[in-house]
Amino acid sequence: MKKLLIIASCICLAFCLTACAEQENTHPEYVLTYAENQPQNYPTSLGGERFAELVKERTEGKVIIQVKYAGEYGTDEDVVSQMRFGGIDFARVSLAVVADEVPVLNVLQLPFLYTDSAHMWRVLDGEIGEELLAAFQEDELVGLSWYDAGARSFYATKPIRELADVQGMTVRVQNSQLAMDMVTLMGAKPVYVDHNDVHYAFETRKINAAENNWPVYQYMDHYLVAKYYTVLEHTRVPDVQLASRRTWEILPEEYRTIILECAKESALYQRNLWIRNDIFARATVIDSGCEIIFLEPEKKLQFQRAVQPLYEKYCTDHLDLIQKIQAG
Ligand code: GCU
Repeated sequence: MKKLLIIASCICLAFCLTACAEQENTHPEYVLTYAENQPQNYPTSLGGERFAELVKERTEGKVIIQVKYAGEYGTDEDVVSQMRFGGIDFARVSLAVVADEVPVLNVLQLPFLYTDSAHMWRVLDGEIGEELLAAFQEDELVGLSWYDAGARSFYATKPIRELADVQGMTVRVQNSQLAMDMVTLMGAKPVYVDHNDVHYAFETRKINAAENNWPVYQYMDHYLVAKYYTVLEHTRVPDVQLASRRTWEILPEEYRTIILECAKESALYQRNLWIRNDIFARATVIDSGCEIIFLEPEKKLQFQRAVQPLYEKYCTDHLDLIQKIQAG
């Protein structure tokens, strides 16, 4: 019996080795590029890595996606402009980077839009999420899946305990007109700085505040240079996995289906990682002695009132959509 088992195991192993060798020997039909602006161990990067592994496995090595991390292909803006003519094939970026070109996406950047994260996911996982992924087509892009980027809050070199504390601060924002206007309405000066240069901008005092989620605050070491984190959670701007439309159109239907399915699966994987990393990031910054400031409801309301004009300026054409989201 023991002998039989050993023989059976050897046969299995031989099969596996042959299958692996065959896969290794397969010549890829497509070798495609994928840009990611976060470090390699960050949840969105691990999501991208999982995406590439799944695509390789399910196309039996015919489609290889090479993920480059930490902004190796340039800033998100550079990446997106390359994607418009097929220079880069895939990327994971913040929705904010594309919203100036595809204005309906601004709806998802509106401050105080959702009640919580579960509300946002009900919207993004439903019909509205799918419709908005389709809207990326207007910008020569294909929206594949939504990635979690948490809730954004302010952090600064001085405590922000109410709206008056933000007056006159210089705040780093993403490259988006709506983000600029939001900070201006709060009474501060917005400055666009690329994600990978924010730490340096704090060090050189180009900025004294920024706004982002817990994992960015911790992974990018912003908590070492801006020790006050105010839990405002003013926006939940999702990240998105994109393909270049040029690339997409040359891929056979069969591969497109697989890629889309792998993107969605990698997004679920990323969301799980996000939850754990979010907790870890909070614990790390609290442990390091940063002051975490929770706002009383009436102080939060000051911010909410200040940014209300954004709804009119950006979204009068999309009032139905906003209503649907808020009811979601
Ligand atoms: C999000 C996103 C980052 C992005 C950042 C930003 O957190 O996940 O990759 O660069 O926002 O504020 O620029």
